Amino acid sequence: MSRVDLAPGAINPPHSHPRASQIGVIIKGKVLVGFVTTANVFYSKVLKAGDMFVIPRGLVHFELNVGKGKALFLPAFNSQMPGIVILPTTLFASTPPIPNDVLTKGFQIDAKSTLETLQTIFVNGFPCKPLSEVKSDDFFFDGLRTEGNTTNVFGSKVTSAFVTDFPGLNTLGILMSRVDLAPGGINPPHSHPRASQTGVIIKGKVLVGFVTTANVFYSKVLKAGDMFVIPRGLVHFELNVGKGKALFLPAFNSQLPGLVVLPTTLFASTPPIPNDVLTKGFLIDAKVISDIRSKLGS
Ligand SMILES: *[C@@H]1O[C@H](CO)[C@@H](O)[C@H](O)[C@H]1NC(C)=O
Repeated sequence: MSRVDLAPGAINPPHSHPRASQIGVIIKGKVLVGFVTTANVFYSKVLKAGDMFVIPRGLVHFELNVGKGKALFLPAFNSQMPGIVILPTTLFASTPPIPNDVLTKGFQIDAKSTLETLQTIFVNGFPCKPLSEVKSDDFFFDGLRTEGNTTNVFGSKVTSAFVTDFPGLNTLGILMSRVDLAPGGINPPHSHPRASQTGVIIKGKVLVGFVTTANVFYSKVLKAGDMFVIPRGLVHFELNVGKGKALFLPAFNSQLPGLVVLPTTLFASTPPIPNDVLTKGFLIDAKVISDIRSKLGS
């Protein structure tokens, strides 16, 4: 995960990431985000705080601050080392320099036609929809603008940008969510079978912890701008330990990471796990089980 700051009018110039698809969310400002496919189709949209975008691996893209003030966005990648190819410096400021002939001929800089060669440099998967049906909105999503309703027994709400609402994510192996926590609220102990997770705190004070397969517990209290990482499949939680509401944005290296919420998995499944399994497995009385079940509304 990264943070990208843009001064008014500034650009994150055309570039690509050879080893990763990218997902991102605008935190502040007004940003034009665009990319060009290998079929040379340009998709773009002006995004505001809470809006998301997705950029398929290896495609040329940019982000331009089109607002009046500063802009900030947070990209996440499904690689710990996505690589970056910044086209202006790659083409015109490499060491040693690319021979002039390559550039004048390649870009027809002294002739009429323009940048036809770039599209063949980059790698992409096959489109999942007929190209004629693909539109810019497939790659942008505003569903994370809205605060989740935390009026429930845990005081937390996870809102995810799934491929069903955000079609451009398909086959890219990335997902981002927002998690709202009421004061004292918890995202209860859970695991994601199919993904490692990274995340950044946007607001509030959050205790984040996980337990390894060697039964070691790692945890820390995090504030706005702080990050965490949870290895795939490990049991973890996030607890709001501040006075106000908290918000964090997790990102996953799967488009469908899966979610096993331990309280509901163990005590509120359908049909229920037999009491004997729980009393013997957790060394507790049946009374404890029925208490938990009734509080979970099961
Ligand atoms: C939030 O959820 C609670 C419990 O389901 C419900 O009573 C309440 O109306 C919801 N609030 C909003 C603003 O939707």
